[in-house]
Amino acid sequence: MQHQAFLDLRTTLDLLKANGELSEVSGEVNWDVELGAVTREVLRRRGPALLFSNITGYRGPQARCSRLATGLFASFRRISLMLGFDQQPSNRALIEYVLKKNATLVPPVLVEDGPVHENVLTGDAVDLFAFPAPRWHHLDGGRYIGTMGCVVTRDPQTRQVNVGLYRSMIVDRNRMGTLIVSSQGWGGHWGKYREMKRPMPVAFVFGWDPVMEFVAGSPIPATICEYDVMGGYRGAPVPLVKCRTVELEVPAAAELVVEGTISDDPATYAPEGPFGEYTGHVSEIATPRPVVKVSAITHRDRPIFRGTLEGSLPGASGENSYMSSIQRAAIACNVLRNAGIPGILDVFVHPVNNGTTVIVQIKKHYEGQPKQIAAALWGSNASSHRYKFVVVVDDDIDPGDYEAVDWAINYRVDPGSDDIVVFRSTFGSALDPSTLLEHRQLSELGAGLWNRMLIDATRTWRFPRRPQWGGERFPPLVTPRPQDLELVRKRWREYGFAGWKAEF
Ligand SMILES: Cc1cc2nc3c(=O)[nH]c(=O)nc-3n(C[C@H](O)[C@H](O)[C@H](O)COP(=O)(O)O)c2cc1C
Repeated sequence: MQHQAFLDLRTTLDLLKANGELSEVSGEVNWDVELGAVTREVLRRRGPALLFSNITGYRGPQARCSRLATGLFASFRRISLMLGFDQQPSNRALIEYVLKKNATLVPPVLVEDGPVHENVLTGDAVDLFAFPAPRWHHLDGGRYIGTMGCVVTRDPQTRQVNVGLYRSMIVDRNRMGTLIVSSQGWGGHWGKYREMKRPMPVAFVFGWDPVMEFVAGSPIPATICEYDVMGGYRGAPVPLVKCRTVELEVPAAAELVVEGTISDDPATYAPEGPFGEYTGHVSEIATPRPVVKVSAITHRDRPIFRGTLEGSLPGASGENSYMSSIQRAAIACNVLRNAGIPGILDVFVHPVNNGTTVIVQIKKHYEGQPKQIAAALWGSNASSHRYKFVVVVDDDIDPGDYEAVDWAINYRVDPGSDDIVVFRSTFGSALDPSTLLEHRQLSELGAGLWNRMLIDATRTWRFPRRPQWGGERFPPLVTPRPQDLELVRKRWREYGFAGWKAEF
């Protein structure tokens, strides 16, 4: 692995191109639904990252922004490359790396100026429609400008800065609708600004080093600033510049920044949603929600807009899914280690569920251990929108092998026993379509409500030991004994399998 210095979006695209992982789409594509549909079909074919450079209405020298990059995170190979790996490491190695980096802190540095201020637009010059924000899916309530936009906010009391990744929809030239969940980093800040009866300053950052989205889209503890973690990933302080109209800082080489404030006056709210969400379903119905009143847009010359098609679908999962597969497994592992639980061997999240299901492989030390694991995960804020299902397996089951996990669930779980634990009405995801829409009203509940389930697929210790089973509580497997295998290995060629050839 090579040490990876900071990239910006342009050098990231160069890196992906040099490795055959980027395709420029030069044919005309309409931002209205077509761009999202093309992206979905490329995901379905496990294709490259895409740079759209011929977008309807955004062509020619008069266009302020004519390019959109997407799909950068939608493969483990690309994520590995962007993190600085020459070869794609195993799931386990990637998780260990991310665990270490999430805990390495290098504070940012403030610099005088940067390319993000090559163009500064305020007042009447502010026009969100100047950027090719797609209507990604035909049922989206509008053009979603914020799909890979990293949102910077500051705690008005502690001054702690948070960088999170949250959606936003264009309302008009200078307003964006938002969905603020109280259990998220900016949701905590929003609560404090509301109590103080002050609008919350925000800055949406589009396109910079991919560690920005990788870290902002993951639950870094609220006491840690994500800029420090980004610095930890690259081993250098993130160069930041001051925003022009709000008291916040943004990466100096970002492509595009939208600055503004959010008021809690319901008279300022505007309908937001629905949106084709990470669950692969259209999330909800259009609902009046807080809006960002944009005070400035700053951008590089010839900016490249950054966006992503949300929604995990079997065989066609997107960027959030692959990022979450790594980060949500690493963060679960971290929660469990910090809780002091022994025997955590591996943690796996399949991209298709974004971390809604987490599979934990353990060396079992005591019978109550799987429940302790579920309790630690569900008691952590990292389980916001994640870890609805916790599956715990023994050390002979590879958590990344769905066939093996399925087998363990089928033959090591008694659904009428304590192997299944349901934890009701805990905080969850307001976007999960398996929950009644009325039960996930953020304005009433702050966050979604979830029933969660532990599947303890380890061999139970509640059974008595039986001498007939070698003194074990669970019966032996049907695999041949070593001496049986040795005999077969020796005689393999003598059996003469007609019409079939295989080495032992
Ligand atoms: C592509 C992408 C889109 C996301 N969209 C949202 C969103 O619209 N709302 C939200 O609350 N979380 C969203 N998330 C998840 C949050 O970014 C994630 O929960 C993160 O932990 C938020 O940062 P925080 O912990 O500082 O709040 C998204 C994540 C990714 C990777």
